[in-house]
Amino acid sequence: MSTNTIAINQQRHQLNPDDQVWLFGYGSLIYKADFTYLERRSASIEGWTRRFWQGSHDHRGTPDAPGRVATLIEEAGAVCGGMAYLISADVFEHLDYREKNGYLRLQTRITFNNDESTDGLVYIATEDNGAFLGPASTEDIARQIAQSHGPSGSNMDYLLHLAESLRELQIEDSHVFAIEDQLMRMEPILGHS
Ligand code: SIN
Repeated sequence: MSTNTIAINQQRHQLNPDDQVWLFGYGSLIYKADFTYLERRSASIEGWTRRFWQGSHDHRGTPDAPGRVATLIEEAGAVCGGMAYLISADVFEHLDYREKNGYLRLQTRITFNNDESTDGLVYIATEDNGAFLGPASTEDIARQIAQSHGPSGSNMDYLLHLAESLRELQIEDSHVFAIEDQLMRMEPILGHS
């Protein structure tokens, strides 16, 4: 699959511009809401786990030196916490551009923190996209993040912002917190190199 998913996403769902849709965010969409939304609620989805396994060519790295950003990997029984936004469908023009580096809009069931649930969409970079990097050790992921920069800023900023937001939302994520921990231990070394 091409790394640019704009055209695929535009054809995936028949939405009228004034339809209202719930979108679940689990990565930068938690802390960087650079779009208009009607309502925002903390929420979770089942069967997916957050992993820094997606390459970033356009935001936190470059095609030659990709950063590592979050995607979701299927895992039976897993629950992924994040933030759900009620948006008007015309906002997808901006979001499809922002998430164009491998992310597809998939349908999901979203559960709010009061146990109410609704159908919605989530952007997931599946393993067949051209920017997918896959698993690596916590140390290697942290090292790649520490060294990567792109048009949206440093990859380190993405990770640290996400970890802070997860703590604020009281979401436990051992994968994200282990990378954060590793980065904190590497920072003095990197700072003096
Ligand atoms: C998301 O946050 O839901 C998708 C991944 C990202 O933009 O970081």
